[in-house]
Amino acid sequence: MMTKEELKQVINKELGNYKMIVVSNREPYIHTQEAGKIKVLRPSGGAVTALDPVMRACGGIWIAHGSGNADRKVVDKDDRIRVPTEDPRYTLRRLWLSKDEERGYYYGFSNEALWPLSHIAYTRPIFREKDWQMYKQVNKKFADAILEEKTKSNHDKLLVWIQDYHLVLVAKYIKEKSPDIICAYFWHIPWPNPEVFRICPFKKEIIEGFLANDLVGFHIRYHCDNFIETVEREVEAKVDRERNSIIKEGHECLIRAFPISVDFKDISDLASSDKIKDRAEELRKELSLEDKIIFLGCDRIDYTKGIPERIIAFDRFLDKYPEYKEKVVFIQIGAISRILIQAYKDINSEINRLVEEVNWKHSTSEWAPIIFSKRFVPYEDILAFYSLADVIVISSLHDGMNLVAKEYISSKFDNSGAVILSQFTGSARELQEAVFINPYNIAEFVEVFKGVIEMKDDEKERRMKILREIIKENNIYHWAAKVILELSKFYLY
Ligand code: F6P
Repeated sequence: MMTKEELKQVINKELGNYKMIVVSNREPYIHTQEAGKIKVLRPSGGAVTALDPVMRACGGIWIAHGSGNADRKVVDKDDRIRVPTEDPRYTLRRLWLSKDEERGYYYGFSNEALWPLSHIAYTRPIFREKDWQMYKQVNKKFADAILEEKTKSNHDKLLVWIQDYHLVLVAKYIKEKSPDIICAYFWHIPWPNPEVFRICPFKKEIIEGFLANDLVGFHIRYHCDNFIETVEREVEAKVDRERNSIIKEGHECLIRAFPISVDFKDISDLASSDKIKDRAEELRKELSLEDKIIFLGCDRIDYTKGIPERIIAFDRFLDKYPEYKEKVVFIQIGAISRILIQAYKDINSEINRLVEEVNWKHSTSEWAPIIFSKRFVPYEDILAFYSLADVIVISSLHDGMNLVAKEYISSKFDNSGAVILSQFTGSARELQEAVFINPYNIAEFVEVFKGVIEMKDDEKERRMKILREIIKENNIYHWAAKVILELSKFYLY
């Protein structure tokens, strides 16, 4: 198992005198103000969950969009703040966007075009020319912020680690001004097959943006293959199968799979603390969960997560096996997300309606089958819910990785619990001891609910032990070290 100390050593040895900057749209800490009080929120989402422990271990600068209503109040004159506030380890530099920029770049092109284009969830992408122009403008703004860091820091050797689909053009803009900066890019969502991608009106510029990087990472081999095939079909470039790289106009870009992960040890240790155990017991009483078999769903509310499918399957399960009524509860924690977009308003309404219908249909005076929480749930409460949950249910229609599965497993320090996992998640490739579902196959899903409830404890324990070993070995420090080692093999000197 790679520890954070070992990752630090890898970074010191391999990066030498390079200065590393991480850049993403989503910031790891959001400051908000309510009734005069400033609070810090940890946003949900894979990129932040994975990168924050790496940055805590290594230090450095993380540039991200300052999206909280109190973000400006807490930064210094250079828009910086040391985080986490209770134990500062690295610098968060906030970049500000106007409402128009946010609408066109984040809501528009990133989340109404690239997100549905990359996920096969049958939501139609919307390509608006004005969103694309705003996307380019904001990508330039991020690139300028990075170039400014280079000038300010007096470092002539810079490694920029760009995250996610919001920033596909950043490397191109950086290299135009400073080709010596090493750029690595990690795409946190799936990459579709060429047939799907070819409808994008801006496809050539997007691919060129990717290829300006020195290294591009996807979660799984399949996404790398899809990407290479897309490049072969859409632009003139040479694919080197030996090195797994693409050469365009003399510039080589390595393509690699790096399955992202979580801080196994940290989560496991925190989950076994008295604080979390006590909180779990409080929640058990508060929500009348004593003697109940608890299923848990924990997602950003997104049409890719298959939340309606799991509610429908749970409803059918109660229809088909009524003997389980009053014995089971489904807790769905749903973080509201991207709510200005119509498709997200629709999925919210659909989930609300389904929860109401299923609860109305099956409830008794003592029991309701689904508890749906839409309020913000602090991280420690999420760990308490993991601790209470007998089964986590992950039914994504398509998902790059899905770190909820990995967080839940990491939290099960006593080898309890079970994982129902969609075969269409990236994590399904690694987590072979999960119980797999096809979320579109409701009849099978129903039987899986029953099968998991009736699975013998020693079988559950056997599976959980293996799952925990897999994540322990392939933790987030291992992931970050693999990226750094790959870069150092080819570029760093
Ligand atoms: O899985 C990672 C991810 O989907 C990111 O790509 C995204 O930034 C995040 O989760 C959450 O979405 P948002 O930043 O829109 O809240």
